[in-house]
Amino acid sequence: MAKVTRIDHVAILVDDLQTTVDFWQDALGIQLAHMVDVPAEKSMVAFLPVGGSEIELVKPTTDDSGLARYLEKRGPGMHHICLEVDDIEGMLVHLKEKGIQLINESAVDGMDGRKYAFIHPKSANGVMVELYELPK
Ligand code: CO
Repeated sequence: MAKVTRIDHVAILVDDLQTTVDFWQDALGIQLAHMVDVPAEKSMVAFLPVGGSEIELVKPTTDDSGLARYLEKRGPGMHHICLEVDDIEGMLVHLKEKGIQLINESAVDGMDGRKYAFIHPKSANGVMVELYELPK
């Protein structure tokens, strides 16, 4: 059966990237690795690696995306947790069999050959869960 192997990242939605980076970097000592503009997601993302996982700070760059509407409605805070799995398609089949509601019915091709899919927060007690499979 498909397995969850590690926590890849925790994504936090922010309205002010620099202030948030300052908190994680200066108060907690987690160094910023890089910051990239991700036009496909209409957002700017800051990556702060820690212990083989990452904190990702996401700031919408337009006000018409799903992320921007989420921020507008709920304010800044935790957005999703991402789990690495060894077989994303197998995991999605397993979740569908269990009646879990998915945002992506099949895996989406992301950056660097990675595949991802989101589980609906309704099926996870209010937490949005992202699944990730790295290229072999
Ligand atoms: Co993510």
